[in-house]
Amino acid sequence: QTGYVTLDRGYKNTGATQSGITFLDGEEGILRYRGYSIEDLASKATFLEVSYLLIYGELPTAEQYETFVNSIRRHTLVNEDMRKIFDGFPVNAHPMCVLASLVSAMSAFYPDSHEGNGNTDQHIIRLLAKLPTIATWSYKRSLGHPTNYPKNNLDYIPNFLNMMFALPVEEYKVDPVVAEALNVLLILHADHEQNCSTSTVRLVGSSQANIYSSISAGIQALWGPLHGGANQEVIEMLEDIKADGGDVGKYIDMAKNAKTTGFRLFGFGHRVYKNFDPRAKIIKKAADDVLNKLGVNDPVLEIAKGLEEAALNDPYFVQRKLYPNVDFYSGIIYRALGIPTNMFTVMFAIGRLPGWIAQWKEMREQKEPIGRPRQIYTGATLREFVPLENR
Ligand code: SDX
Repeated sequence: QTGYVTLDRGYKNTGATQSGITFLDGEEGILRYRGYSIEDLASKATFLEVSYLLIYGELPTAEQYETFVNSIRRHTLVNEDMRKIFDGFPVNAHPMCVLASLVSAMSAFYPDSHEGNGNTDQHIIRLLAKLPTIATWSYKRSLGHPTNYPKNNLDYIPNFLNMMFALPVEEYKVDPVVAEALNVLLILHADHEQNCSTSTVRLVGSSQANIYSSISAGIQALWGPLHGGANQEVIEMLEDIKADGGDVGKYIDMAKNAKTTGFRLFGFGHRVYKNFDPRAKIIKKAADDVLNKLGVNDPVLEIAKGLEEAALNDPYFVQRKLYPNVDFYSGIIYRALGIPTNMFTVMFAIGRLPGWIAQWKEMREQKEPIGRPRQIYTGATLREFVPLENR
């Protein structure tokens, strides 16, 4: 080995870059996008305003916002040939698999994205505009329903909801409570500095791979149950606890004996937050508000609160500073909005897209070198080849 290497599994103590996009303080439970607190943004901004802020660094003026929104509006249609790829998937294909594949395929439909990167702003608009459209295809097909086309007279989130839930046989009316809840959730998921999927987007992009391939890699990384896939795991865990008589203590004990049970409390713990995840606080409050406004009574919400209460008073969790994270309550809201469990991580991807784009753009603008970590070699020392007849 030339020189020496510091081993840091999972990059727990490695700073991979300098970034001016998102600031988070794990001890204090602080999260800010370009200096604005998520509490402020979640209650006062639209998701597209926050997307513009993350990607271009400033909150848009009225004119910039109108141009941005209208550009997105005019690119929500997906090339009809993409349906041929989509139709090749088995009907029960996980929506994250479909999403990552179709986003990757976009680089074939926009080849200037890999010949010197073309007009990056155009590809940014295409990603923001088409991801929601593509995301709804899996859901509609899983029901045997026709997919819906985007409508240019609808705003971003109502357009997504309409594509998700409209049927040719009846008019679909967007409930403002649902649209507002989704606006908050997408804003809270929009960026989170150098998490696993964002680091993946940066690493792939650092080889000068095109933006569609880089974002597609990020979607794949997000799918993992330890990362964005946790929001689906949380609801499945809460359903198991409910089916098991609601005995949260039993699951707390299973988690405490993780070495033998291999069980983890999904939605708990975080690499950086050693205090409450500020997003979880907002989502927990929103869960109560939204379910009340929609008149939804979901027994797993009470089970979630009981589990949180038990964990926060248990030394095992307190010593390890394990608190509910962004994924713990989000699924309860998605479910109340009518979004199926296997689409929860797709919702996370739609929210995280502007963050991935902003980080990829910054990496390129900062001319970051290609990512190439080293290792500590633990394999065999030099040895002679043994011919097959002698083995
Ligand atoms: C997201 O990085 C980001 O910012 C991600 C994210 C984003 O916005 O991009 O915030 C989104 O991915 C949130 C996290 C969603 N994942 C989950 O909810 C899955 C459950 N959580 C864990 O797997 C875990 O907490 C991680 C993956 C989130 C963090 O893992 P770390 O930092 O590597 O911590 P660790 O696995 O080393 O755990 C430290 C200790 C261990 O115990 P000991 O070996 O010290 O005895 O805490 C225990 C772990 O066993 N532990 C848990 C636990 N999480 C950690 N025990 C029970 N239940 C859990 N959930």
